[in-house]
Amino acid sequence: MIAAMASSTDPLPQFPPGFLWGVSTAAHQIEGAVQGRLPSVWDAFSAEPGRIRDGATAEVACDHVARYREDVALVRDLGVDAYRFSVSWPRVLAPGGLDFYDRLVDELCAQGVRPVPTLFHWDLPLAVEEAGGWLERDTASRFAAYAATVAERLGDRVTKWITLNEPAEHTLLGHALGEHAPGRKLLFDALPVAHHQLLAHGLAAGALRAAGADDIGIANSHGPTWPASAEPADAEAADLYDIILNRLFSDPLLLGRYPDGFGDLMPGGDVEADLKVISEGTLDWYGINYYQPTKAGAPRAEDAEFSGVTLPAELPFSLRRIEGYPVTDFGWPVVPEALTELLTSLRDRYGDRLPPVVITENGCAYEGLDDQERIAYLDGHLRALHRAWEAGVDVRGYFVWSLMDNFEWAEGYTKRFGLVHVDYATQARTPKASYGWLRDALRAQRA
Ligand code: NOJ
Repeated sequence: MIAAMASSTDPLPQFPPGFLWGVSTAAHQIEGAVQGRLPSVWDAFSAEPGRIRDGATAEVACDHVARYREDVALVRDLGVDAYRFSVSWPRVLAPGGLDFYDRLVDELCAQGVRPVPTLFHWDLPLAVEEAGGWLERDTASRFAAYAATVAERLGDRVTKWITLNEPAEHTLLGHALGEHAPGRKLLFDALPVAHHQLLAHGLAAGALRAAGADDIGIANSHGPTWPASAEPADAEAADLYDIILNRLFSDPLLLGRYPDGFGDLMPGGDVEADLKVISEGTLDWYGINYYQPTKAGAPRAEDAEFSGVTLPAELPFSLRRIEGYPVTDFGWPVVPEALTELLTSLRDRYGDRLPPVVITENGCAYEGLDDQERIAYLDGHLRALHRAWEAGVDVRGYFVWSLMDNFEWAEGYTKRFGLVHVDYATQARTPKASYGWLRDALRAQRA
């Protein structure tokens, strides 16, 4: 904590040549323009009373579809190399829906910013959900067909692709706990959702390759899991939580197998064959969204509520508060050194099977235009990332979440992750102190 705060005025260490600097957003969180697309699971979920804080919806959000030129100018003026956005599948299904991404990509290229689209950032078309959604194997094939359509249209200008965003959160929050769309509370019966998303990644990577892509990644959420104590019951519970959050996704992708016992729980006649589709030649790089470590232990009644999420009593683990660190407006502990720990432990676990790593998201929620805490957060995490690189992890890029304040899922508009402030009443964009800090830091990297 002291290091992060004291260091924010010192220049950052030099990152390797060719390091890719970027900012991230996602379609549902910024676009608005709901008339131009089909409904998604998030539209239906937001319409249910009590699901989203303040009853907010993403109907307008940051009105980005109308204001994308202004937003691209903000990305350009920040001086980053790349912009990670997501393509909305329900928009692509609407007549003329791909035209918007065509214009966005053209504008990015014209402004010298590299487009890095994510093909799925949680906004499943409602019609696909009604056909069973991610519980159905067929959704993986539909996703691959959609990926092929997007690649055919944008592949002449887009060279770097991300298939899925955080399949772990989409499984856990959306299908096991019901805190996110589509609001299912299936607990361990949500496991097919994990498998079908992974299969979707594999099939989509094949479709992208067929369209000529050779720079494919995924954005997986990862964070170290710390056991609540050295007691065997806590260590075992923490290990299970770590599987669910981390290894359930990275093991199939990077090792071609599920953590012990989990393969037998997966659907479909031939999980081994699916694992080949998931793992063989599907990743040129590995994207990591990192926010915080988690402390987990044996279930305890007093831990039922954690960070606004209610954990059902029947879960075989519980989450504990991590004391001794500053927290963001989300209550998430700020622990930059856990990013170094995460990256070196992934390298140790996967060795040569771990492709070059890009941090596809990292950031924090704070109010205010003079966001010194965000500067301290970014500064601390960039130093931690640099330490991982010095320790031999092949780190190739870093994307801040997020370019601008936006619709933070179940939290509505109450959590502000942006480098740029958005006044939702007027849609005025105002760069925060952190925007200026990052712009200057990038200039110094290039000097
Ligand atoms: C990860 C998700 O990908 C993104 O959509 C979300 O806004 C951030 N975490 C912050 O919670």
